[in-house]
Amino acid sequence: MSIFDGQLKIEVATASGIEAVTKRELLRLGYEPSGANFGRITFDGTFKDVLRANVFLRTANRIRIVLGSFKAETFDELFDGVSAIDWKEVLPRDAKIVVDAKSKNSKLFALSATQSVAKKAIVNCLTNAYHTALDESGAEYDVEISLVNDEATVTLDTSGDGLHKRGYRTYLGDAPIRETLAAAMIELSVWNPDRPLIDPFCGSGTIPIEAALVGLKIAPGMSRNFACEKFSNAPDVREVVQDEAESLIDRDRMLKISGFDINPEAIKLAVKHAKRAGVESKIHFQTMDMRDVSSKLSHGVIITNPPYGERLMSEAELKVLYADFGKMTKGLDEWCVYAISSYKAFEKYYGKRADKTRKLYNSELECNFYTYLGKAPEKKESKL
Ligand SMILES: C[S@@+](CC[C@H](N)C(=O)[O-])C[C@H]1O[C@@H](n2cnc3c(N)ncnc32)[C@H](O)[C@@H]1O
Repeated sequence: MSIFDGQLKIEVATASGIEAVTKRELLRLGYEPSGANFGRITFDGTFKDVLRANVFLRTANRIRIVLGSFKAETFDELFDGVSAIDWKEVLPRDAKIVVDAKSKNSKLFALSATQSVAKKAIVNCLTNAYHTALDESGAEYDVEISLVNDEATVTLDTSGDGLHKRGYRTYLGDAPIRETLAAAMIELSVWNPDRPLIDPFCGSGTIPIEAALVGLKIAPGMSRNFACEKFSNAPDVREVVQDEAESLIDRDRMLKISGFDINPEAIKLAVKHAKRAGVESKIHFQTMDMRDVSSKLSHGVIITNPPYGERLMSEAELKVLYADFGKMTKGLDEWCVYAISSYKAFEKYYGKRADKTRKLYNSELECNFYTYLGKAPEKKESKL
């Protein structure tokens, strides 16, 4: 009997600021998420649900299984708490055990000591249970000890590489945005696949590609594997989850998505990535200065990640660029504009106060996500 045959408490790690977005995704997948502390959301499910979460969630960073939680102010309490978990149900005899630790506002803050005490407790339990020494020659099982306010939570990672690694972006452009953040920006916008979408600073194409995946209903994790697929003591559920994901795809969907960038190398990269993601026929990519971007279509949505000036250009150039971006979008007054920037005076140079501002993090960098709502469509006159 292994824990993977029964009900599990599943933890979804997401970026700070987008917990509500990830929760919404979980609800749409049919789960009942609870809590959203420090970017962690939990729900109950089976091992198949663990894999579904890995394959289908667009905005989550990682999926873990919660093994236990307890108070730990001393190493003795940590050792006892970790030892109380039935490790024989979690780890096979040949498991390669990797222990990671994190600590916030806790008395136990020495991470390497926390890791080695926890590993000692796990190895001790398994040696007693299997009556033999462990050789750790099998699949890797990553255990995390997270200490917050002296409460330890022990989890098992199921994702392996972070979920932003969809598999399509193998080449890195200038300051690319994470796929999960791009997906969150799309989810936070009013865009839906019936509306046009433009990213005038598309770089390596992440935002247009993520939108096309949404439009065609392609699950973001379909083209990659996850750490838990290698667990020798877990059921093989990949095929059934993959079949579900395949059955939802709508490849014939018409989409009006464009990406522009002044750098031709970035556009080449964007096209390559779109091909790898299987969406190249759905996105129009073109080398163009943002100042020349326009559209005859109405009520579209701009979602973009312009340069922040940190590495890409000087502050003086940035001010001019934002002012010109503001002028460009004046010609698209029915369009909604969403832009992420760490530059605090973005609104000043863009020339307009945002209708809404939300704090988001691009990796570790604190940014604002600015929302400018376009003119609403005119109501047709009633014939009565
Ligand atoms: C922060 S990067 C965008 C990264 C992109 N989201 C990605 O995931 O790869 C900003 C991009 O703006 C482009 N850029 C700078 N000035 C521009 C301009 N005047 N018109 C269009 N693109 C411009 C840069 O070439 C760069 O690729």
